[in-house]
Amino acid sequence: MARLRVGILISGRGSNMRALVEAARAPDFPAEIGLVVSNVPDAGGLVFARDAGIATATVDHRAFKGREPFEQALDAELRKAGVEFVCLAGFMRLLTPSFVDAWHDRMINIHPSLLPSFPGLDTHKRALAEGVRIAGCTVHFVRAKMDAGPIVGQAAVPVLPGDDEKMLAARILAAEHRLYPAALRLIAGGKTRVDGERVVVADAGAPVPLLLNPAV
Ligand code: GAR
Repeated sequence: MARLRVGILISGRGSNMRALVEAARAPDFPAEIGLVVSNVPDAGGLVFARDAGIATATVDHRAFKGREPFEQALDAELRKAGVEFVCLAGFMRLLTPSFVDAWHDRMINIHPSLLPSFPGLDTHKRALAEGVRIAGCTVHFVRAKMDAGPIVGQAAVPVLPGDDEKMLAARILAAEHRLYPAALRLIAGGKTRVDGERVVVADAGAPVPLLLNPAV
């Protein structure tokens, strides 16, 4: 079976990238990580990727005049590495519609909230301020609108009394590390289909495998 060749875009510590790289080490995992690209030259995640023997590239957005030339360089790196599918993993640049369209239904993102609640920044702080009892994370196909697009899977975690931002973020991050590889496995294994703005998972009738529940 040919494995789907994946490029991962990061901007920072890259713990979700690491979860994907580690999952892809399993012989039956239907995707391989062909490239990790960072827009931040000293992103911590690059060190892990290099040590793991994965090809890396840096495309520093500050070296370009505007989003389009930056994205053209990004796109060129991905194509040069034979990347067929893109995973955004803490990639903190807004992408233009032309880049998003070029990777339509071939690019997913992970966001630390149960979308469509709390898109954007300061997610955990806003969830705590609203007093929600359940928080979580979402893997979704990328559309031009930020943190929006067909949902592949979600994981829920409880918000516990006394939680601060850091505690909630850590609980959600642990769920992200389970959800993202599970979502990529499903997509790369051909088990999903994007139907308009929804993701249809094969095996209708079986429980949706990408709904992870709180452990309380
Ligand atoms: C993760 O929590 C990810 O969900 C979030 O950034 C963090 C990156 O951590 N992404 C977004 O907020 C995107 N809107 P990581 O670099 O350790 O994977």
